[in-house]
Amino acid sequence: MAQKKIGVLGSGTVGETLANGFLKHGHDVMRGSRDPNKLSGWKEKAGPKAQIGTFAEAAKFGDAVVLAVKGSAAESALKAAGFDALAGKVVMDTTNPIADKPPESGVLSYFTTLQESLMERLQKLAPKARFVKAFSSVGAGLMVDPKFKAGRPTMFVCGNDAAAKTDVTAILDGFGWETADMGPAIAARAIEPLCMLWCIPGFTQNRWTHAFKLLQQ
Ligand SMILES: NC(=O)c1ccc[n+]([C@@H]2O[C@H](COP(=O)([O-])OP(=O)(O)OC[C@H]3O[C@@H](n4cnc5c(N)ncnc54)[C@H](OP(=O)(O)O)[C@@H]3O)[C@@H](O)[C@H]2O)c1
Repeated sequence: MAQKKIGVLGSGTVGETLANGFLKHGHDVMRGSRDPNKLSGWKEKAGPKAQIGTFAEAAKFGDAVVLAVKGSAAESALKAAGFDALAGKVVMDTTNPIADKPPESGVLSYFTTLQESLMERLQKLAPKARFVKAFSSVGAGLMVDPKFKAGRPTMFVCGNDAAAKTDVTAILDGFGWETADMGPAIAARAIEPLCMLWCIPGFTQNRWTHAFKLLQQ
C-alpha cells in the first residue's frame, strides 16, 4: 500500500499495537484520545512520524481511520471524531461489543444480539464512513506480523464498500494476514462473536497465542 496518513482512535492496547504496526510499515500515524496527554510517552518513543491529538484531530488527520475504542463507547467516540471528518474514509473497525460483566466459564457476554452487530449500528450512525470490520477476531499481540508454523492466519472482514475492503485487504496482506471477505456489514453479526470464541482458551487456560485459519478444499 502507498504511504498513507492513518488516524488511530484509541489509547488502549489495540490502538498502540496498530499505531506501531502502521509506523513500522511506513505510514504516518496520529493517535486520538479524549485525553491526548496520556499518549505523550508513546509519541516520544514512537518517533517523528507519530502524532497525538483528540479523536476529532486524529479522524481529520487520517486518510484512513482505525476505530479501537471500548465497544460500549464506540458510538460516542465516533460522535466525538465527527461524522464530517469520517465521511468517505475507510474506517477499520476493531471493536467488539463486550458487556461489562465477567466471562462465564470463559464465555464473554455481548450487549448486542445476533440480529444486530455493533458495526451495523456504527455504519447507520455514520453512513458516509466506509466501515470494514477488521482485526476484531485476534488478540492485539498477534495483529501485526503474526508468525505461525501453519502459515498465514485468516482475518475475517466485512463491510458494504467493496473498494474499502480492497484497501483493508492490502493492509492485512502487508501485516502478514490472509483475508476472508464475508460480505456486507451484516456479516459482522457473525464476525464479532469470533472474539468470544478466541477468548475462551485465554480465560480458561491462559492460552492467548492462537489465531483462526479458514481451510479451503
Ligand atoms: N485487546 C485486544 O487484544 C483486542 C483484540 C481485538 C479487538 N479488541 C477490541 O478493540 C477495542 C479496543 O480494545 P483495547 O483493549 O485496546 O482498549 P479498550 O480499553 O477496550 O478501549 C480503550 C479506548 O476506549 C475509549 N473509551 C473508553 N470509554 C470511553 C467513553 N466513555 N467515551 C469515549 N471513549 C471511551 C478510551 O478513550 P480514551 O483514550 O479517551 O480514554 C480508549 O481510547 C475494543 O472494542 C476491543 O473489544 C481488543
